[in-house]
Amino acid sequence: MTQKQPEMMEKILSLCKRRGFIFQSSEIYGGLSSVWDYGPLGVELKRNLKEAWWRSYAYGRDDIDGLDAAILMNPQVWMASGHVTGFEDTLVDCKSCKKRFKVEHVTGKVCPECGGALTEARQFNMMLKTHLGPVEDTGSLAYLRPETAQGIFVNFHNVLNSMRRKIPFGIAQTGKSFRNEVTTGGLTFRSREFEQMEIEFFVKPGTDEEWYHKWVEERFNWYVGLGIKKESLRKREHAKDELAHYAKGCTDIEYNFPFGWSELEGIANRGDFDLKQHSRLSGKDLQYFDEETKERYLPYVIEPSGGVDRSILAFLTDAYTEEEVKGEKRVSLKIHKSLAPVKAAVLPLLRNRPEIVSLARSITAQLKKEMKAMYDDTASIGRLYRRQDEVGTPYCITVDVDSLSDHKVTVRERDSMKQERIAVDSAKQYIMDCLK
Ligand code: GAP
Repeated sequence: MTQKQPEMMEKILSLCKRRGFIFQSSEIYGGLSSVWDYGPLGVELKRNLKEAWWRSYAYGRDDIDGLDAAILMNPQVWMASGHVTGFEDTLVDCKSCKKRFKVEHVTGKVCPECGGALTEARQFNMMLKTHLGPVEDTGSLAYLRPETAQGIFVNFHNVLNSMRRKIPFGIAQTGKSFRNEVTTGGLTFRSREFEQMEIEFFVKPGTDEEWYHKWVEERFNWYVGLGIKKESLRKREHAKDELAHYAKGCTDIEYNFPFGWSELEGIANRGDFDLKQHSRLSGKDLQYFDEETKERYLPYVIEPSGGVDRSILAFLTDAYTEEEVKGEKRVSLKIHKSLAPVKAAVLPLLRNRPEIVSLARSITAQLKKEMKAMYDDTASIGRLYRRQDEVGTPYCITVDVDSLSDHKVTVRERDSMKQERIAVDSAKQYIMDCLK
C-alpha cells in the first residue's frame, strides 16, 4: 500500500537545507525550477554513493569496464536512439504523487493512482538543446544527453576491442543527464539536471531473459546491502503498453518515497534496438564476432539504470530516524557507514584548555589523511553529539581532561551510542577498522 508522509518530506527538505546537503540552484535569484546544488555534506554523500556503485561494478566484477563519455554527442546519435522523435509525448503529471501519465492513459481529470490534480496535457520533447560554435542554425544544433546510455552504445566496439572483451560483458558509466521535465517538486526526485549510474550489459540473444532477471535481483540486493529497508523497496514489472520505445521488458525497483511508491531504478531488456539503430544510421557494422562458434550477431542489452539524485533522496529518507533518548527527542541519520558524509568528528570537552584543543586538532589532522573528518568545539558536548547524529556521522571522538594523563579518548558510536575508551595513538586505525 502507498503510504504518503508529507511531513517526512518537509523534514528531509529542512535537514537538507539546514545542514548543507542540498540547496536550490541559484537560490539568491529565486532559484531555478527542478535544479539543485549539493552542499558540503551532500557532495560527500553523492561521491560516496557513486563510489559504492563504481566499486561494486567497475572494480568488483570481472565482466564490467568503466567509461566516461562526453555529454555532448553528434546529433545523429539522438536520431538513431529514437529520442528526437520518440522522446516526445503528450503528457500529464500528477501534482500530488508526481507520477507521469500518457494522456491516453488517463480518464477524467484526476490522477488514476492517487486522485490528485493533474497538470495540463503537453506535447513535449524532453531533450534540452544548445548550439555549438559561433552560428545558431540547425547545423550547429546539439543536445544535452537525456541518458548516459547512448555514450556507451556508440563506444561498444571501442571497449570491446581495446579491452579484448567477449560476450557477455558490460560497460558502466556515471554522469550527468538532462531532461526538460514538466513536473517540479519532490526535491531531487525529478530534476532537469541529474546524474545516472548506468550499465549496458551485452549478452547473446536467447540468454537475455536470464540476465535480465539476474540484474533485477542484483540491483535490488545492492540497495538492501547499503542499508535500505527491504520493506521500503519493491519490484514492479512494466505492462506492455508502459514500455519505453526501446524496451522488450522492464522492471522498476520502486522506493516508498514520502510521496508514495515511485521508480528508483529501471532494469530494461533493450534487445538489440540501440546497436541495430546505430549500425543503420552510422553505416558501421556493430555486430559481435564469436571466435569460438564463428557466429556473428548483434548482442542484446540488459540495462540497469539508476539515478544518483533519486537514490540520495531514498537513502536520506530511509535513514532519517526520530527516537526518544532519556526523555529527549534524538534525530539521527542511520545511514550506511560507507555513505556517511563525515566519517568521524573530534570533539574537545573543554575548548578553553589549549592542551585539549591541541590534542583534538592533532587527532583530526591524522584522520583527515584517510577520510572526511571534522573538528567541532562550538557547543556543549550534548549538542555536538546531536549535530553529528543528525548528519549521520558514525563515530565521535571526545577528548577530555583525563586524555592528557591517560592518553586515551572516548569513541561513541552513532546508532548504539555505546562509548569506548581507546588509546590516542590507535584512534585513527580504530576508526578505519570500524569503517570496514
Ligand atoms: N537509459 C535508460 C533511462 O534513462 P529512465 O527510466 O528514463 O531510463 C533511469 O531513467 C533512471 O534515471 C530512473 O530510474 C531515475 O532514477 C533516473 N532519472 C530519470 N529521470 C530523472 C530525473 N528527471 N530526475 C532525477 N532522476 C531521474
